[in-house]
Amino acid sequence: MMRNLRQLMVVFGWVLLWGQPSMGFAQDYDGLPKGEGRVEVFAWCTSCHSARIIRQQGLSRADWDETLVWMVEEQGMQEPDTKMRKKILDYLSEQFPPERPHFRVDGE
Ligand code: HEC
Repeated sequence: MMRNLRQLMVVFGWVLLWGQPSMGFAQDYDGLPKGEGRVEVFAWCTSCHSARIIRQQGLSRADWDETLVWMVEEQGMQEPDTKMRKKILDYLSEQFPPERPHFRVDGE
């Protein structure tokens, strides 16, 4: 009985290990479409919430800018330096402008 249980635990451990979301999850950047700045946005923006919350938005550059301010001031996001900030903002406003269809997940 004890031995079976231990085997079960070992198997369970492996399942946990192999099932790590980082494999696959990181590869598709949580659905963020391809583009300059994707890696940065993925790294910078998905530590607190999924990228879905970003993908569902369609905002002007000014509104994305405000979102960044809001993330820093109200949500505790680390402030990106000027270069990083521009890269993130370029990506967001290019990929997720107001006129885009919401819930874009195609990765192109
Ligand atoms: C330190 C944690 C943290 C980081 C890092 C972070 N966010 Fe957020 N974000 C939050 C929290 C918490 C909320 C939910 C706020 C609420 O609805 O009150 C949120 C909500 C949002 C929303 C939803 C706004 C809405 O109107 O519903 C967007 C868009 C967003 N974040 C974009 C970003 C982007 C882009 C980045 C990267 C530049 C980012 N976040 C990084 C914590 C974070």
